[in-house]
Amino acid sequence: MFATAAIRWTYRRALKPWYFRRDPEDVHDLMCRVGEKLGRYGITRGITDAIFDFEDPSLAQDVLGVRFRNPIGLSAGFDKDARLVDIIPSVGFGFEEVGSITGEPCAGNPRPRLWRLPRSKGLVVYYGLKNDGADVVAARLRGRSFGIPVGTSIARTNDAAHAGVEEGIEDYAKAFRLFADVGAYFTVNISCPNTCGGEPYTQPERLDLLLTALDRIKTRKPVLLKMPADLSYAQTRALIETSSAHRVHGFIFSNLTKKFDRPEIVQTEITSHARGGISGRPAFAASNELLSQAYGEYGSRFVFVASGGVFTAEDAYEKIRRGASLVQLITGMIFEGPQLVGEINRGLVRLFARDGFANVREAVGAAHR
Ligand SMILES: Cc1cc2nc3c(=O)[nH]c(=O)nc-3n(C[C@H](O)[C@H](O)[C@H](O)COP(=O)(O)O)c2cc1C
Repeated sequence: MFATAAIRWTYRRALKPWYFRRDPEDVHDLMCRVGEKLGRYGITRGITDAIFDFEDPSLAQDVLGVRFRNPIGLSAGFDKDARLVDIIPSVGFGFEEVGSITGEPCAGNPRPRLWRLPRSKGLVVYYGLKNDGADVVAARLRGRSFGIPVGTSIARTNDAAHAGVEEGIEDYAKAFRLFADVGAYFTVNISCPNTCGGEPYTQPERLDLLLTALDRIKTRKPVLLKMPADLSYAQTRALIETSSAHRVHGFIFSNLTKKFDRPEIVQTEITSHARGGISGRPAFAASNELLSQAYGEYGSRFVFVASGGVFTAEDAYEKIRRGASLVQLITGMIFEGPQLVGEINRGLVRLFARDGFANVREAVGAAHR
């Protein structure tokens, strides 16, 4: 507890002010290099573990046949090329999602492509799926075992050659084949807001074509769909109905929001250069709303994972009560520090006890009962 408080203080008073004066992508790259080095050696992993990790039996559960030691995961987009899989368990995460990884290597959009919104507690993301590509990342992970479940998020290569519906599907299928036996679960990211050709698979007919192609590929991994934040529930429902006819086991609500006029956003922070999707606080309410509606209707048929604007244990608990079995985050960790993961898990144990839940499973969807 003392170590956590000391790290929180150091992060907020010393590291964050230094980071927040520098280019966000440079800082992200630096963090990834440091994390990769810490993950390489038993001693640095052990020290990280001793400082950050927190375990409690009430946090553990099986979801879709996969054992999760706690419900808090690193969302897709932080560890794009799966270089942090050795250190992320020691930071206290219960799982991580690597990627999004595309069929072909992808340089992403031109820089700058990441901006901070300190007062709105969000980031504007315009990476455009920069990653090493499915061949390289699958080879990096194949045959390895991990301390926690590692999900593989796949998406369509962001270039003109893959912008057509058929070409896009073939690209997803290539990544799907390469990861069929690598990692614990799949996420099919149909909602990256920053790509050439837009988000074609958020239309039911095209989603149907994509999922039909993926159904033909053999895998034992469960499949989740990462959903957009800005569709109406009627549109979201149409995508869930389409998915019902395919090998889809659950949904992540949700990806970045593209609505720059959300009330949570301090408008003066948006510069004329910023474009893309927004994470953090501005994504909280929208993703919660869709999660609640979808769980209310489909909670007995699908698994739901939450993503968007988690900064505290109370935020994570709200998403669990709305129906999320698992909760992902990135922006909260960037704003609050890496000790946030343990703080959230500790806080969840306290909140479960306060409300009479023996474990996370009992709390999932409690707001609907
Ligand atoms: C820098 C950055 C890169 C991201 N890249 C991806 C990505 O490649 N694939 C994806 O599905 N989501 C991506 N996202 C969205 C996150 O996975 C997450 O859904 C979103 O940020 C909301 O969670 P947060 O508020 O906790 O950050 C990215 C987010 C950030 C901040």
